[in-house]
Amino acid sequence: MENNLFVGKVRYHFDTLPSTNDFLVELLAKSKPPEGTTVWADNQTAGRGQYGSRWYSAPGQNLLVSVLLYPTWLKASNQWPLSEALAVAIRDAVADLTQLPARIKWPNDVYLGERKTAGLLLQCALNGAHVQHAIAGIGLNVNQTQFPPEAPNATSMALACGQPFKRPAVLERLLWSLEQRYLQLRQGQTERIRRDYRNHLLGLGQRRRFARPDGNTFDGIPQDVLPDGRLIVQTDQGSAAFDVKELTWLFAT
Ligand code: BTN
Repeated sequence: MENNLFVGKVRYHFDTLPSTNDFLVELLAKSKPPEGTTVWADNQTAGRGQYGSRWYSAPGQNLLVSVLLYPTWLKASNQWPLSEALAVAIRDAVADLTQLPARIKWPNDVYLGERKTAGLLLQCALNGAHVQHAIAGIGLNVNQTQFPPEAPNATSMALACGQPFKRPAVLERLLWSLEQRYLQLRQGQTERIRRDYRNHLLGLGQRRRFARPDGNTFDGIPQDVLPDGRLIVQTDQGSAAFDVKELTWLFAT
C-alpha cells in the first residue's frame, strides 16, 4: 500500500473471524487504533449484512474487510455523505478491476449487471452531535462462482469477467479507492461525490419494481437521490422520497 497515507497502513489479517466489523468494535473498546486501521479475513463465521441480515461468503474466495475511520467532522444527523463516498469508492475499484460498468444500487450496494457483487455495512458511533468513529465493513465477491439460495442475486468479479482475480491486488485497489474518496469527502468535495454517485446509480430513469415494508409491491422510476440519502421515485401516484427502511428493490432472480 505504498501510495496510501493511512488506509491500510495498520492492518490485521486472519484466516477466520466471527466478523471483521466486530473485531474492530472490540479493538476500539480497549485501544485507540489509528485511522485507517484495516482488518480482513478469509472467512467469517458470523458475517453481518445490513438490517440484521447475514453475509454469506465462501471461505478464501472473496474479500471480507473492515476499515476504521474517524470522520469526527461529520454531523450525527448527516451521515449519508460518508455512505455515499464509500459506495462510490467500492464502485470505482470494481469498475477499474473488471473494466465493466459497475453500478451502485441505492443505497450502497455495488452491482455488475443486475447482480450484487459488493455490500457495505457502515457502523457509526456518535459523540454528541458528531460522529466519533465509523467502521466500514465491505464484502466484495471476488472469485466465488456458486452462491447459496440465501444469496440468489449475487455475482462476483470472476463470474462477470470469466477469470479469477488475485485477492491481495483487489484489496490494495479497494483500499486506495476508499482513501481517495474519503479524502475528497474530508476536503468538502461532497458535490463531486454526489455527482459520481448519481452518474453510476443503477436504474436511474428506468421503470423498476419495489416493495414496501408491508410486502406490497409497486413500479416506479428512480429519479434522484436527495442530499440526505432518500431516493426519489416517480410512481403512478406522483413523486415520493423514500428512506432506506421504506423501500426494497426487487430483482428477477
Ligand atoms: C450488505 O448486507 O450488503 C452488507 C454486507 C457487509 C459484509 C461485510 S463482510 C466484512 C464486514 N464484516 C461483517 O460482518 N460484515 C461486513
